[in-house]
Amino acid sequence: MPTAQQNHRAGDAQVIAQVCRGLVQVVNRRRTLDWLRSHQDKLLATPLHQELLYGTTRHYFSLTKLISEYLAKPLRSKDQDLYALLLVGAYQLRFSRKPDHAIVNGAVNTCAALGKPWARGLINGVLRKVQRNTNAIADQEDGRLNHPDWLARKITAQYPNNSSDIFTANDQRGPMALRVNTRKINFQDYCRVLDQQGIQFALGAATNSLVLVTPQPAASLPHWQDGFVAVQELSAQFPSGLLLQALSMDLHSPVIFDACSAPGGKLLQLHESLCGQFSTHRLIGNDKVPERLEETRKIAQRLGHSDDARLILQCADATHADVVAEQSCDAILLDAPCSGSGTIRRNPDIRILLQPEHLDDHQATQLQLLHNLWRGLKQGGTLLYSTCSLFDEENDQVIQQFVSAQPDTIVASVQLPYGKATRLGWQMLPTEPLTDGFYYAMLRKAVQ
Ligand SMILES: C[S@@+](CC[C@H](N)C(=O)[O-])C[C@H]1O[C@@H](n2cnc3c(N)ncnc32)[C@H](O)[C@@H]1O
Repeated sequence: MPTAQQNHRAGDAQVIAQVCRGLVQVVNRRRTLDWLRSHQDKLLATPLHQELLYGTTRHYFSLTKLISEYLAKPLRSKDQDLYALLLVGAYQLRFSRKPDHAIVNGAVNTCAALGKPWARGLINGVLRKVQRNTNAIADQEDGRLNHPDWLARKITAQYPNNSSDIFTANDQRGPMALRVNTRKINFQDYCRVLDQQGIQFALGAATNSLVLVTPQPAASLPHWQDGFVAVQELSAQFPSGLLLQALSMDLHSPVIFDACSAPGGKLLQLHESLCGQFSTHRLIGNDKVPERLEETRKIAQRLGHSDDARLILQCADATHADVVAEQSCDAILLDAPCSGSGTIRRNPDIRILLQPEHLDDHQATQLQLLHNLWRGLKQGGTLLYSTCSLFDEENDQVIQQFVSAQPDTIVASVQLPYGKATRLGWQMLPTEPLTDGFYYAMLRKAVQ
């Protein structure tokens, strides 16, 4: 009968084997970590799976450079799971507190779990060499090298003064920001609950926001199931306030269209704020992906907004002409699909999956969305355009092209507590350090 220790080792080997399969999905099959989470959740089943898969993805480019020094020739395409095993082992040697010999033995045992016991000698040999050199490697580490060349060049070209800070920030874990749902509890009262439970936090500069000193699983937050609080990245908490400021207080029942709303962070925050400011309103949360809208529905339910007739969820492609009636909206939020280049520390797979030509594709979609939605805006109304991108191609360039083609557009100024003005909008960076990279531009429709 196997001993408890043998069972434990076999369990670890299974976890590492699943992490390797997950890494192959990302690197070789070009799947996102989000896709894995919704389609193959067993590959991310435990905190250990998540730590190893996210950690190895986060340091992927440094780790590949490291392994290439010790691997005599590339592995065959059918053995990319073994290459992933070398990366996961190197990640653990570099970043985990587990003893080195246990890490190398764990990787060697994983060969059998991958159905490739013949590779034990190879894995052992390469990881022993990595083990002997990890201290030297730590000294040489340079955030720039942990990005693909094209991405490093683009960040350097567009942010010559803070590129190395951006590289460093991209290799960290993002902070955990919360938004208190003031339909359920007063902001100060929730802060008091956190204090009582010894959960430390800093106040964020967005209304009703705070940032935890140490991230923790959302479901372990006080009154999570009661919907007192939502997890929402801090830079993503400003669009709601910007749109509210743009709405005249004289409006009887404003109509607001959130064109790309799922999973609903900004939508539900906007709904909560509108409830506080107007006696009634109509807020349409649109998205083209039904599963993402379903997620929005669940979150709305937890926050206590699902039976509210003022909030309408709708599934449609916002590039289609009939998505919104002509001149029907007082305000529109276009939180556009984008490269996500401002969120690399939160979505580390972006640095592996993003290709330069994707920026052109995103730009084309962003412009198509803007032109189509503009028809739905009333004269005097405001459209807020936002992306979580760092790049001009998806930000000022899009606004510039749109404004040149649409003569009834007035670019309004944006000013926020973090970040800085660009030619036409406002840019936050992941170096702030509480925010991700995020862009905002406010467009007003001229009254003719
Ligand atoms: C940046 S995310 C939106 C995040 C959301 N606003 C929030 O705060 O939670 C972009 C969204 O755009 C949606 N999307 C992409 N193309 C679209 C289109 N043509 N029409 C409508 N939605 C689209 C995606 O499904 C995705 O949910």
